[in-house]
Amino acid sequence: MKSFKIMLSASLVAIASVGAAQADKLTLYCSAQEDWCQLMANNFQDATGIKVAMTRKSSGETFAQIKAESSNPKGDVWWGGTGDPHLQAAEEGLTASYVSPMRDQLHPWAISQAESADNKTIGIYSGALGYGYNTDLLAANNLPAPSSWADLTKPEYKGHVQMANPNSSGTAYTTLATMMQLFGEDGGFDFMKGLHSNINQYTKSGSAPIKAAGRGETTIGIVFMHDAVKQAVKGFPVKVVAPAEGTGYEIGSMSIIDGARNMKEAKAFYDWALSADAQNLALEVNAFQVPSNTGAKTSASAPDMSTIKLIDYDFKTYGSSATRKRLLKKWDDEVSVLAQ
Ligand code: F6P
Repeated sequence: MKSFKIMLSASLVAIASVGAAQADKLTLYCSAQEDWCQLMANNFQDATGIKVAMTRKSSGETFAQIKAESSNPKGDVWWGGTGDPHLQAAEEGLTASYVSPMRDQLHPWAISQAESADNKTIGIYSGALGYGYNTDLLAANNLPAPSSWADLTKPEYKGHVQMANPNSSGTAYTTLATMMQLFGEDGGFDFMKGLHSNINQYTKSGSAPIKAAGRGETTIGIVFMHDAVKQAVKGFPVKVVAPAEGTGYEIGSMSIIDGARNMKEAKAFYDWALSADAQNLALEVNAFQVPSNTGAKTSASAPDMSTIKLIDYDFKTYGSSATRKRLLKKWDDEVSVLAQ
């Protein structure tokens, strides 16, 4: 973290120092993995002296919380989580515009996320959706290795597939939106219904299904591929799949909450979180997303995005308030209620 102060503008260092002198604080809402959230909070606190109170909740849950608190905002920064609910928060005026001096260090995909949302959010990492399976359980159940999305709806996988609930989880909403884009709305909902017959549990958090697969509690978990790689790197018998039909991806995002009580500190965190040093912390917790700072390192274990068949994910449509609300309601009304 030594180069942190060098990298930031003089004014930002002044803000950080003032923060230290007055023991200022920051309330951080975090929607990435808990260990990464904690590491970010601790490192920012050590670098600036600003006391951080961090809570981890999934992307959809955090969106709902920020919305519920909008008349009396309690959070300052929302860091991490899939971009769609960040875009929805921007559209609904729940987050504040900010153009960071760090912006010119970022990949174009991170900046275009900001530009499409009146600078009320920005990309901090990206990662492709897929799934992983427990190779021991697959063999024990005499199941063929799945390689496509369509495979996951086959009757032999009944009770073997786990995913999160798209209302709470950004990962699962990305899954729902990906199916709309791969198969059209009717075909996409048919897929979600077929998948539902094979689901053993809808979890709250997006990465829970692959952690469960690692522990041998489910055979298959639909997750971002980087979360599956993390389990494999930990030594669990997890194989990562990039589905044959192609797949969606996320632009993990960060936003400052409108009406933040600690606005100076929120901006200091935002600038710091965009630096290469802060983004390199991901490697310490095996977070294998692609970082948005062009100078940050991507792990050799990270899924190689250039070899994955990615769809041209329509963030504008699927991150819009009307579409996200409509698709979630339709999933609640037409999929989640079906018998399994
Ligand atoms: O940190 C892991 C991660 O998969 C991120 O890449 C993603 O933005 C976030 O979790 C989504 O979590 P959830 O599905 O619980 O909202």
